Amino acid sequence: MRTALVGGGSSGIGHAIAERLAGAGDRVVITGRHADALEAAAVQLGGIVGEVHALVSDMADPASAAAAMEEVEHRHGGLDVLVLNAGGPPPGGILDLDDTRWREASELLLLGPLRLARLAMPGMAKRGFGRVVFVTSTAVRQPQSDLAASVVLRSAVTAAAKLLSLEFAAQGVTVNCVAPGATSTERRTQILTNRARATHQGFDELDAQDLARIPAGRAARPAEIAAAVAFLASDEAAYINGTVLTVDGGRTETI
Ligand SMILES: NC(=O)c1ccc[n+]([C@@H]2O[C@H](COP(=O)([O-])OP(=O)(O)OC[C@H]3O[C@@H](n4cnc5c(N)ncnc54)[C@H](OP(=O)(O)O)[C@@H]3O)[C@@H](O)[C@H]2O)c1
Repeated sequence: MRTALVGGGSSGIGHAIAERLAGAGDRVVITGRHADALEAAAVQLGGIVGEVHALVSDMADPASAAAAMEEVEHRHGGLDVLVLNAGGPPPGGILDLDDTRWREASELLLLGPLRLARLAMPGMAKRGFGRVVFVTSTAVRQPQSDLAASVVLRSAVTAAAKLLSLEFAAQGVTVNCVAPGATSTERRTQILTNRARATHQGFDELDAQDLARIPAGRAARPAEIAAAVAFLASDEAAYINGTVLTVDGGRTETI
């Protein structure tokens, strides 16, 4: 049985990924900061799809990452699949965020995931199999002015993922990114609420404007992002390495 660590597993995209991987037979360890929500998600998922464990861990906290990896190693004897996902950064334009917020966003989006990958990948290489998937955003392909931290830091994450993908490719360890577009989660509701406040427009009006830019005419279901992550984490995806899979209903306007 493979062991998968899925960040942000108590809600949204991470929850859907945990459900999908556990449903396919993986032992899944979900992480997040709030023990109650995490335990509830593990119990709920465990009841319907398979083996799911809760492990409280803050992606932005260095000590927390090391403890989480030790715990997984100790309890389950190593990690096969690492899904690097957590909450999104604060909204704001490129000139809006001060140094403190850039540092915090950098810990959450770049340094935290990189730290976990650094801890997990040598063990994967030693065992001859590993799948690392970063959940990023279409912001790496198409800038969004009011999400500057996401655009800047996730571009760096994408570069880091590319470099990581070269390290242990010959030992069966792949590293890829899944870049979601608008996805129906708490995070999307928050972003639209912030935008409504900043522009003095109605939530429903902004929601409709956002959806109108998506050729599919709707936001993704979290399960649709999870399906892409599960594919990249599968045995079948062994020869896909160092790439970005955009899952956005066709919204990104690049070739
Ligand atoms: N939804 C979208 O439209 C969309 C589009 C593109 C990209 N994304 C990105 O995809 C990722 C997941 O988004 P989502 O929509 O699923 O968000 P969500 O519904 O807000 O869920 C975020 C999850 O991450 C956990 N989390 C937050 N901060 C954390 C931290 N410091 N350490 C560990 N876990 C943490 C949360 O639990 P706790 O609060 O208990 O920690 C929760 O389980 C985000 O990075 C987001 O920016 C989302």
